[in-house]
Amino acid sequence: MTPGLYPGSFLVLLCLLHVSEETCPSMCLCTSDTVSCSSAGLAKLPLSLPFFSVTLDVGHNHLSWLGPGSFNKMPRLETLRMAHNQISALGHGVFQNASGLRHLDLSSNRLHVVEQHYFQGLWRLEELLLFNNKIAQVEASTLSGLSSLKKAYFSLNQITHFPFFSIQDHSHPFLTMLDLSSNRMSRLPWEDVKALPRLVQRGLYLHNNSLICDCSMYSMFWHWDLRGYDSLKDFTDEHTCSISGDPRASIQFLRHTRFFNNCTVEKAVSQPVTVLLSNVLVSEGDRVRLDCQTSLRGAELSFMWISPSKGFITQASINNTVISLFANGTLEIRAAKVNDSGLYVCTAVDIKQALNATREVNVTVLVPAGESFNTGYTTLLGCVVTMVFILMYLYLTPCRCSCCKQPKPAVTPITTYDPSILTSVFSPSPREQHKIQTEKHVAFVEPMINAEGTEWTCESGC
Ligand SMILES: *[C@@H]1O[C@H](CO)[C@@H](O)[C@H](O)[C@H]1NC(C)=O
Ligand SMILES: *[C@@H]1O[C@H](CO)[C@@H](O)[C@H](O)[C@H]1NC(C)=O
Ligand SMILES: *[C@@H]1O[C@H](CO)[C@@H](O)[C@H](O)[C@H]1NC(C)=O
Ligand SMILES: *[C@@H]1O[C@H](CO)[C@@H](O)[C@H](O)[C@H]1NC(C)=O
Ligand SMILES: *[C@@H]1O[C@H](CO)[C@@H](O)[C@H](O)[C@H]1NC(C)=O
Ligand SMILES: *[C@@H]1O[C@H](CO)[C@@H](O)[C@H](O)[C@H]1NC(C)=O
Ligand SMILES: *[C@@H]1O[C@H](CO)[C@@H](O)[C@H](O)[C@H]1NC(C)=O
Ligand SMILES: *[C@@H]1O[C@H](CO)[C@@H](O)[C@H](O)[C@H]1NC(C)=O
Repeated sequence: MTPGLYPGSFLVLLCLLHVSEETCPSMCLCTSDTVSCSSAGLAKLPLSLPFFSVTLDVGHNHLSWLGPGSFNKMPRLETLRMAHNQISALGHGVFQNASGLRHLDLSSNRLHVVEQHYFQGLWRLEELLLFNNKIAQVEASTLSGLSSLKKAYFSLNQITHFPFFSIQDHSHPFLTMLDLSSNRMSRLPWEDVKALPRLVQRGLYLHNNSLICDCSMYSMFWHWDLRGYDSLKDFTDEHTCSISGDPRASIQFLRHTRFFNNCTVEKAVSQPVTVLLSNVLVSEGDRVRLDCQTSLRGAELSFMWISPSKGFITQASINNTVISLFANGTLEIRAAKVNDSGLYVCTAVDIKQALNATREVNVTVLVPAGESFNTGYTTLLGCVVTMVFILMYLYLTPCRCSCCKQPKPAVTPITTYDPSILTSVFSPSPREQHKIQTEKHVAFVEPMINAEGTEWTCESGC
């Protein structure tokens, strides 16, 4: 080694230190993959930020504008928090090269119009927070490319029209939350709203708008109410509409329905109302009770179930003790079998009002869970013991020959390491549990040949 190399490498080291220091701006806090520059008095984004950051928080600052490629040098960015700034517009290509973004928080800013180019290319975006801005307009194709979107919050803005038609089953298959509450919508395009995917309707929040009372509005909410959506249940009192647009004549329309007596909603029920699927997981042999709780109330209800293995079940059709149907609609299976698994659909019929409602229950009957866990556990234990024996054999015995007896031609059962079983011990999904059950866990291993070509087996006394 030449002596001159030392000062040289020292300089390089200093230089590297300097660079890595520079990437975490002094007003920010940098951890492994997170940079927090919140409440740092920033008027602009820091010029250099660690390129490997996954989370960046620049909330509670004075940012007012973001230019093209603002996050160009952060290709791993997934979460970007910019709440509580003064951003009034986003330039073209702000998020170019930031297509890994999954959570974007622009709430409590000053956005006026959500332009269609804003979120272009963010096809991985799952959560978009835009509440508490000054948004009056959302351009039609703003949400078009956001095919991974799960939750979008537009609450507390001044939106009068929203492009409901741009949300469809195939364009937004994962969308389950669309919050448009506390805006200024007075008349909605109910045909478009009705065409929204079921999951979106279920997660659509429209309370505290300036809705005008009319039958088409009431009809839509009446159906959602019947399905028991949380958005209505949790904000019953905040669902108001005004008579002919007069804000002084405001009605809590989920409570005071008499104003809509002349509407023909109840006769307009053409399809049974389906209460969303619930899942029931039981072990074989368990007693299973499936409730048929729908939005229909009253003593005049009759119930009917369709089961995967037994077809139609009504109270009249039951003549065995394996299954029973109570007057309140609850179906009971005495001892569930694996092939009782499947989709159970209950229909509650209110004969008087000519209404019916259905409830779906997805029943999965598993072979007893404890058993499959035990077999996996035994496998794991056996595997560990075997490994210890092998290691002891390889490293602890000074002379291999003194420990091991003559190799035996007979095959010795030892437990083997099977990675698929190991992983399934830790993530026992029903299917995998089943697999453990069927693939027996003790394997008979062929005698192994070591590098020198001599057969060996490990004796228990070793
Ligand atoms: C941004 O992405 C484009 C291709 O999409 C690439 O050509 C360009 O070099 C990237 N810019 C940066 C700064 O990474
Ligand atoms: C209703 O919306 C207004 C603004 O439109 C807001 O100030 C108010 O807090 C909201 N009320 C509720 C209960 O959300
Ligand atoms: C319902 O219709 C009747 C007669 O058509 C009318 O007198 C009444 O005012 C209407 N009620 C409401 C709330 O519109
Ligand atoms: C359920 O499985 C048993 C055997 O395990 C079989 O005899 C029976 O026919 C099956 N029932 C149905 C409805 O598939
Ligand atoms: C009663 O059970 C028998 C078989 O045990 C079946 O053939 C018959 O159809 C059942 N009757 C009714 C009304 O379901
Ligand atoms: C229905 O009745 C059965 C038997 O009386 C009871 O076990 C079950 O809890 C009831 N279900 C509901 C939803 O009340
Ligand atoms: C549910 O109601 C609709 C309309 O009232 C009717 O056409 C349908 O047959 C009913 N379904 C059942 C299973 O009763
Ligand atoms: C019911 O549950 C099983 C297992 O959890 C699942 O594979 C199946 O797709 C579900 N069926 C429906 C209709 O959701």
